[in-house]
Amino acid sequence: MKRLLKYAGLGIGAVALFVGIAALYIDKSDFPKYPVNVPTVKIESTPERVQRGHKLAMMLCVECHQNAETKQITGRPMYDLPAEFGTVFTKNITQHPTKGIGAWSDGELLYLLRTGVHPKTSLIIPLYMIRLPAMADEDIASIIAWLRSSDPLVQPLDVNNRFSEPSFLTKFLMRVVVKLFPLPSEKIALPDSTDKIALGKYLVRNLGCNDCHAADVTKVNPMEIEKTAGFLGGGSNWTDVNRKVLYSSNITFDKETGIGAWSEADFRRAMHEGIRPDGTTFRYPMERKPLLTNNEINAIYAYLQTVPHLKTPRKPSEEYVLPANASAGMKVYYNYGCQRCHGESGLGIGDLRQADKKYPDDETLIDVIKHTSKYYPETVMIQWDGIIKEDEYKPLADYVRELGRKADIAKAH
Ligand code: HEC
Ligand code: HEC
Ligand code: HEC
Repeated sequence: MKRLLKYAGLGIGAVALFVGIAALYIDKSDFPKYPVNVPTVKIESTPERVQRGHKLAMMLCVECHQNAETKQITGRPMYDLPAEFGTVFTKNITQHPTKGIGAWSDGELLYLLRTGVHPKTSLIIPLYMIRLPAMADEDIASIIAWLRSSDPLVQPLDVNNRFSEPSFLTKFLMRVVVKLFPLPSEKIALPDSTDKIALGKYLVRNLGCNDCHAADVTKVNPMEIEKTAGFLGGGSNWTDVNRKVLYSSNITFDKETGIGAWSEADFRRAMHEGIRPDGTTFRYPMERKPLLTNNEINAIYAYLQTVPHLKTPRKPSEEYVLPANASAGMKVYYNYGCQRCHGESGLGIGDLRQADKKYPDDETLIDVIKHTSKYYPETVMIQWDGIIKEDEYKPLADYVRELGRKADIAKAH
C-alpha cells in the first residue's frame, strides 16, 4: 500500500499534468465496468449443501455482512478497513426482495462471487469484498444454497443499504491493479479429503489465509497462491474495529519468526480456541475457527509445513493508551482486547450495549463472558475461562455495564 502511494507520488513529480488529469478522472469516475455474462444455472438445495454453506459462510461472509444490532447479514460499517480505503459499508444480503438479494438469480450470485463483477451494475466490486475464483463448484453452490435457506441469519429484513465512499486509493487500485476473474472454463472439483496437503492448500486459499497473511494484500496472486510475494510470511496491515493498525503474523514454519516450533496440537488449539502456545490470544481481525474439524486443521498444518519458511519478524502494532484515571474494569477490557471486537463504545462486530439489561445479575454476565459458546454456540469470541484472572471478572463486568449505560445516555440526548 505504502509503496503504491510512493509510486503514485513519484509519478506526480515526473509527469505532473498527465497524472493530475488522470487522477481527477479516476477520482470523479466510478469503478471500471466490465461486460456481464451471467450463466444460466439452477442450484439445487440439499440439507448437506445448506449445512456446508452455513459453515463456509460463517467463516467467509457473516463476519463482514453481519450487523451486531440486527444480528442478521444486513450490512455494517467496515470500520475494520484501513482508513486509506475510504468509508465503506457492506450490504444487506438477506433474502429481502429489494433491499437484499432475494430477487437475484443463482447465476447472478455465482457470477459476482466468481468474477468480482456486480451483475446488476457491471461495475467491478471493490477489492475488500471477497472473490472466490478457485473455490470448488460444490462449495460455491453450498454457499448459494445457504443464502436461500431457512437459516435465521438470511431471512428477509427490511434494512436499507448505506452508500460507501471509496477513497481515491481504492479507485486507483480498482483501475490499475484489480481485474475481473474470468468464469472458470472447467469444473473445479473438491480436493481429495484424504490428501492432507491438497486439502490444506485448498483451505488456505479459500478461507483467505493467504490474502491476510501475505506481505502485501494488494499483491496477492489468487490463481497461483504460492507465487504471492512473502507467501504466508505475514506483514500486511489490518485494523481492528477501532481502526487501530496491527499486522498479520508469519505463519510459515520458520522456527524463530513463524510457527515452526508449534506442534500439531498447539496449532489445533490456536485455530479452535484462539490461544497460542504461550497463552496469548489472537487479536481481531484474526478470528478463531471453531467450525473447522480437527482433520481440516491438521491438513492446514501439514500444508503450511511444505511452504518456504520465511524469516519475517513481527511488526509492532499500534497500541492503545488509556487515560491515567482509567478504572480497573476499563484496564481489564483493554488488556484482553475486548475493544478490538466490541469497540471502545461497546459496539463493533458484537454489541455489548444490551448486556447490562439482558444479564442483570453478575453471576450470569460473568458466565456469558467466561463461556460465551454456551450462549452463542458458533461464536468467534475467545472463551475467557482460565485466561482472565478470577479477580478481574467483577471489575470487567462493571465496565461492560457502564458501556451499556453510557449508550443509553447518549441515545437519550
Ligand atoms: C471483507 C469483507 C467482506 C466479505 C468477507 C464478504 N463481503 Fe460481500 N460485500 C462486502 C462489501 C464491502 C460489499 C459492497 C461492495 C460495494 O460497495 O459494491 C459487498 C457486497 C456483496 C454483495 C452485493 C450486494 C448488493 O446488493 O450489491 C453480495 C451478494 C455479497 N457481498 C455476498 C457475499 C458473500 C456470499 C460472501 C461470502 C462468500 C461475502 N459477501 C463476503 C464485503 C464483504
Ligand atoms: C482478516 C485477515 C486474516 C485472515 C482471513 C486470517 N488471518 Fe491469521 N492472523 C491475522 C492477523 C492480523 C494476525 C495477528 C493477530 C494478532 O496480532 O494477535 C493473525 C494471526 C494468526 C496466527 C497466530 C500466529 C502468531 O504467532 O501470531 C495464526 C496461526 C494464524 N493467523 C493462522 C491463520 C490461518 C490458518 C488462516 C486461514 C484459515 C488465517 N490465519 C486467516 C489475520 C488474518
Ligand atoms: C474476537 C472477537 C471478540 C472478542 C475479542 C471479544 N468478544 Fe465478546 N462477543 C463477540 C461477538 C461476535 C459476540 C456476539 C455473539 C455472537 O454472535 O458471536 C460477543 C458477545 C459478547 C457478550 C454477550 C452479549 C449479549 O448481548 O449477549 C458479552 C457479555 C461479551 N461478548 C463480552 C466480552 C468481553 C468482556 C470481552 C473481553 C474480555 C470480549 N467480549 C471479547 C466477539 C468478541
